[in-house]
Amino acid sequence: MTKIKYQTVTGMHDVFGREQLLYDKVEETAQKIADFYAFQRINTPILEDQDLFIRSVGESTDIVEKEMFTLKTKGKDLLVLRPEGTAPVFRAYLENGMQSLPQPVKLWYYGPFFRYERPQAGRYRQFWQIGFEMLGDASPVLDAQTILIAYNLLSELGFKKTIVNINSIGCEECRKDYRKALLSFLRGKKESICSDCKRRAEKNVLRVLDCKNPKCQQILSEAPQVLDYLCPDCKNHFKQVLEFLEEIPVPYKLNPFLVRGLDYYCRTVFEIGFEDSPEEEAIGSILGGGRYDFLGKSLKTDIVPSVGFSMGVERVIALMKLKDIDSKPKKKEGIFIVQVGDLAKRKALKMIQDFRTAKINVFEAISKNSMKLQLTKANKLAINTVLIIGQQEALNNTVIIKDMITGNQSTVKQENIVKEVKKRIK
Ligand code: HAM
Repeated sequence: MTKIKYQTVTGMHDVFGREQLLYDKVEETAQKIADFYAFQRINTPILEDQDLFIRSVGESTDIVEKEMFTLKTKGKDLLVLRPEGTAPVFRAYLENGMQSLPQPVKLWYYGPFFRYERPQAGRYRQFWQIGFEMLGDASPVLDAQTILIAYNLLSELGFKKTIVNINSIGCEECRKDYRKALLSFLRGKKESICSDCKRRAEKNVLRVLDCKNPKCQQILSEAPQVLDYLCPDCKNHFKQVLEFLEEIPVPYKLNPFLVRGLDYYCRTVFEIGFEDSPEEEAIGSILGGGRYDFLGKSLKTDIVPSVGFSMGVERVIALMKLKDIDSKPKKKEGIFIVQVGDLAKRKALKMIQDFRTAKINVFEAISKNSMKLQLTKANKLAINTVLIIGQQEALNNTVIIKDMITGNQSTVKQENIVKEVKKRIK
């Protein structure tokens, strides 16, 4: 093999073949869920203003501090390859006047996102996310429904033993006192926490709770809990969310230290994963979301109470493989046309067009001449109905139709073949 000069850039990967079938499966499953819950699909541009993410995701978050792919246009605008989907969907909602539609507006997306992270298991610089967002409604029942939709999506994909980790981080008001309490707790621990935590404590103290360092986690297990600082409205909202979850019921676990790494969240935050799953621990969380009622405030526009989640497609696919969940390609529906000789090729080319008009899928290897090779391919695709046009059939205007399961075959006039196939594959 010749050594190739160019390779995919660090942290990015090609998707094709069997892998692409898994991506298709994930997308189709999300589409079905979206249809059921009446979410409209939205595609926002890959490039957005840098400022959109600085203001919404937050200046002191990992995404904004270290992970954005930023580029300067010839007109000197600073644009970024979108690192996440919530802020772009929120921008699109406002920009396209969706506030005048009946609320909540329910939107979903599937597409590539970009974060300049250190590549490791489950961490890519280009990755795919599926996201669901409900904009324009503050009701706690929507928090519960968002969680249920996420739970159903994972369950439809074959993950049966998932658990929702949930917390409330309150609103700006409740967090003022909580920040003070957390800072005062950390004051006595300055020598023991890692350098990242020291920095976070100064810039945005809630981020400290995100630290994955085992020593810091041990110290933080004794930290004050945000739930004890919720104002009456936030407390009541969270109580209702949990009551709705009990009603469904979706298994959940209260995690008083879950804050998530993006600044736009308020009140409910959640992640869905597995209990005691070393695979997931290695790969990272597969799905997370929450409420972001004040994202509009940080963008200095209208306040639009909203809630949503997104799921990392690479991580889900990695877990589907590890947990051996239905990663086999789907059986192909349709027929296979085998042809031998130039005249047969011409007839086959025309026949494929007739099947296309009749909306019947055709598989073939039309550039090949060997009958054996073509039959092997039909076998591999597990196709039951094979049409064979040999030299004799090409001259007689006939075609052999073979049932690959029983081995039975018969000869049919070419002009009747579409009708005959329709009868059989029904
Ligand atoms: P996030 O937690 O940053 O949330 O990302 C959501 C999911 O994207 C993660 O759980 C993970 O599966 C996947 N993910 C993140 N970074 C990477 C990476 N570098 N490589 C592979 N997969 C990755 C958000 O993005 C929010 N917008 C979620 C949301 C929607 N909140 C409300 N609505």
